[in-house]
Amino acid sequence: MHLRVMTKADICAAQRLREIAGWNQTKIDWERFLEASESGCFVAEFDDKVCGTAATISFENRFAWVGMVLVDPAYRGRGIGTRLLEQTIEYLDARRIPCIKLDATPQGKPLYEKLGFQPEYEIERWTLRRSPLQMTERSGAHTHQGLSPELLEDIFETDRMIFGADRSFLLKSLHQQTPDFTAGIKRERTLQGYTFGRKGSFADHLGPWMANDEPTAHRLLERFVTLSLRDVLIVDHLKSNSVAEPLLRSFGFSHTRPLTRMYRGDNAHPGRVENLCAILGPEFG
Ligand SMILES: CC(C)(COP(=O)(O)OP(=O)(O)OC[C@H]1O[C@@H](n2cnc3c(N)ncnc32)[C@H](O)[C@@H]1OP(=O)(O)O)[C@@H](O)C(=O)NCCC(=O)NCCS
Repeated sequence: MHLRVMTKADICAAQRLREIAGWNQTKIDWERFLEASESGCFVAEFDDKVCGTAATISFENRFAWVGMVLVDPAYRGRGIGTRLLEQTIEYLDARRIPCIKLDATPQGKPLYEKLGFQPEYEIERWTLRRSPLQMTERSGAHTHQGLSPELLEDIFETDRMIFGADRSFLLKSLHQQTPDFTAGIKRERTLQGYTFGRKGSFADHLGPWMANDEPTAHRLLERFVTLSLRDVLIVDHLKSNSVAEPLLRSFGFSHTRPLTRMYRGDNAHPGRVENLCAILGPEFG
């Protein structure tokens, strides 16, 4: 087994691992990693076959994210996941990134704990499965209205405070791919809430979803549920946020899996998550 830097030519093989794991990312998500982090994404190869992946993204040199840690089931339990993670840590330490963060699945958590990651808070994936009939009834119910550049800038600024670092390059990419899912609500010149979303392999994914109060959170979730034409929708909500869970329940979402936000190093920029209903996604933070 050897490790090397991932390139665009590996996306097809990486997508095979993603598919086996039942994850929702697309080719575009791998491209987001490779564009942001050309030398910071890695594959493990065995007999010239890609059998593992791990990707990193740095945010303002404040902290970096590790995502897409995947090992082919046929090669698990042989230390490949550990080697991939050690490689990402070596790479980020060499760049003097003071903190590494990630959202761990229950399967990944023991591996991260072994390498010095500590839990920060809990996240839950909630999923809505709905019938094609419900979808036909809904389609066309809303029309998309473009956001002004000023409102977008406002959202990026607020998101920087909430996330703990500037990730506007990612949010711009989400907005370009799926402008319908971008929304911002202002009251008395103050931003009260915003959302972005993605079209994944099997589901539309809402996140980040931020709201200062329940009515704003409700409007934003309702907008996403109405605009999406997919039969599966997913949201990764912060367990500590008391507004999101009852809303998700009332729209028919149910809890599907737990995730743990973890960090390694000095978590000096934790962000302000009080009003964050849902993260962007476990791979990006
Ligand atoms: C999590 C994952 C990447 C681990 O990859 P891996 O190559 O099997 O990991 P390693 O062989 O380095 O094992 C790491 C630890 O996981 C546990 N583990 C891994 N495979 C195991 C198995 N078959 N049985 C029991 N424990 C196992 C062990 O605790 C091991 O620790 P050890 O070195 O003390 O034995 C892999 O299981 C996977 O791709 N899972 C699906 C996707 C996922 O959840 N990724 C994590 C995202 S946060």
